[in-house]
Amino acid sequence: MSRQTILISGATSGIGLGLAQRLHAQGHRLILTGRRQALLDQAIADHPGMTGIQTDITDPAAITDLAARLAKDHPDLSTVVHNAGIMQAEHLVTRQTPLTVAESTITTNLLGPIRLTHALMPQLLAQPGARIITVTSGLAFVPLALTPTYSATKAAIHSWTQSLRFQLAETNIRVHEIAPPGVQTDLMPGHRTSPHAMPFDAFIDEVMAILGQDPVPDEILVERVKGFRTAESEGRHAQVFDTLNRNYRPLA
Ligand SMILES: NC(=O)c1ccc[n+]([C@@H]2O[C@H](COP(=O)([O-])OP(=O)(O)OC[C@H]3O[C@@H](n4cnc5c(N)ncnc54)[C@H](OP(=O)(O)O)[C@@H]3O)[C@@H](O)[C@H]2O)c1
Repeated sequence: MSRQTILISGATSGIGLGLAQRLHAQGHRLILTGRRQALLDQAIADHPGMTGIQTDITDPAAITDLAARLAKDHPDLSTVVHNAGIMQAEHLVTRQTPLTVAESTITTNLLGPIRLTHALMPQLLAQPGARIITVTSGLAFVPLALTPTYSATKAAIHSWTQSLRFQLAETNIRVHEIAPPGVQTDLMPGHRTSPHAMPFDAFIDEVMAILGQDPVPDEILVERVKGFRTAESEGRHAQVFDTLNRNYRPLA
């Protein structure tokens, strides 16, 4: 990608921070958002030139304020990465999980990108070579039954991304989707050390290599997630679903 001013939502940790660090090192201007101010401060101290703006993506007023501040202070903003997300287990049969988990997952993972895109659309339409990049998941294509609403929000964002790409096809804005496999981050307890998740640096390396392609593909898929992406079209959905979910006991 040519030099861009890039906003990454949820860049205080994990994939968002990892991408921010690598894109910053390539000379892009990075604007990081997230709720944890101390982590934003740390990232900025470690990477002079980065900007941090504390934003709760579930708060519509905060998104409106963010867009106004970006239009004023960063009118050259040209790329937004919708990375902020939460993933929590939900036990639907036993109802051990409060309904607020499902509601906040939808507000964060689904309404967050929709609201932020709505707020930033006028600014992005004015920038040559603009990009909108959503972050879905391999679970968009084969759900993890333990995290039903999370998986559903990622499937929804995959669908929404396709429609957004179609609606923007004749504009200056290109639309991409990063669909990670399981990656070793703190997204869920124990995830960082899970042997089933992809080592973090290897994932970021592979994504950066794909972002370096010309043209950047619509779907940014590391090798490890391709089995999920093609499961349905290759007639393997039931098999992959079974393998993914066979250790989950909903009534336990
Ligand atoms: N790791 C994986 O296995 C995996 C696989 C597929 C997809 N993904 C996706 O990758 C993205 C990043 O996840 P990660 O693995 O890097 O986990 P992570 O380290 O927990 O990062 C999540 C980020 O989202 C931010 N966030 C959460 N709720 C927010 C809110 N209400 N407002 C603003 N920011 C919020 C967090 O910042 P604050 O807490 O500071 O607000 C944090 O920076 C997510 O969309 C996730 O669904 C991850």
